[in-house]
Amino acid sequence: MQTFTSIAELRRQIAEWRRQDLRIAFVPTMGNLHAGHLHLVHEARRQADKVVASIFVNPTQFGPGEDFERYPRTEQQDRAMLSDAGCDALFLPAVQEIYPQGAATQITVGNLNNILCGAHRPGHFDGVALVVCKLLNMVQPDRLLLGEKDFQQLAVIRQMVADLNIPVQICGVPTVRDADGLALSSRNGYLTVRQRQLAPLLYQVLRDVQEAVIGGRGDYRQLSEQQQSRLNEAGFAVDYVQICRQNDLQAAEVGDHELVILVAARLGATRLIDNLAFRKP
Ligand code: PAF
Repeated sequence: MQTFTSIAELRRQIAEWRRQDLRIAFVPTMGNLHAGHLHLVHEARRQADKVVASIFVNPTQFGPGEDFERYPRTEQQDRAMLSDAGCDALFLPAVQEIYPQGAATQITVGNLNNILCGAHRPGHFDGVALVVCKLLNMVQPDRLLLGEKDFQQLAVIRQMVADLNIPVQICGVPTVRDADGLALSSRNGYLTVRQRQLAPLLYQVLRDVQEAVIGGRGDYRQLSEQQQSRLNEAGFAVDYVQICRQNDLQAAEVGDHELVILVAARLGATRLIDNLAFRKP
């Protein structure tokens, strides 16, 4: 696996692969890799001739007081994992390479940036959209692979790619879970032993809501509030539990069929998110 820290070097390699008519898949990450990321790389490997991954802890998607400074940086371990997983190139830029002094452009995906997680993390999705747009311009991949665990992020990026006519095919990859149902996340590493024991309740709540909806409950707001109380009583501080339409992430109504239940809640200082998408018959 080759490692590139400059955009110019990365572009030279990409241009060479393009001359050889090779298909390129791209997996952007913020590092501290786990089996969920490796699943993305394996899927990328299956879909393309060359796999490029990036590790960049993107400052613009962290709000004041969030965990940018303490976000785990595990570069040596990440490199070895990517190489073993069959990644061909790693892009590992410094902050100044991505955001040179004077950069002023912003991207706001207006219909999705301030609902759900966006309401609790102002500016977060603007930062995600900006960095992903820039990375796509740098790598120019045929395919972009992203985890479905960040369901809203995936929706934001799909919308941005469509609106800005970026020529890339987006592939959402199913969430990887621990045996007890907890979705894999770099932030799980922050949890204490007690919090880790409690954390799978998030997925249990999603499954219980799904079962209730499929079983015929139509009082979505009350159902969500009940589950929110259940989580709060167990020790979480819930931001939201919401049943939405998959296509636009607006609150679902009884006649909707393609649904997604989304949850975000904090255990101590650690904010966890999860979701469950399904079709209501
Ligand atoms: O999901 C992530 O790890 C990040 O939000 C991403 C897509 C790499 C952008 O920084």
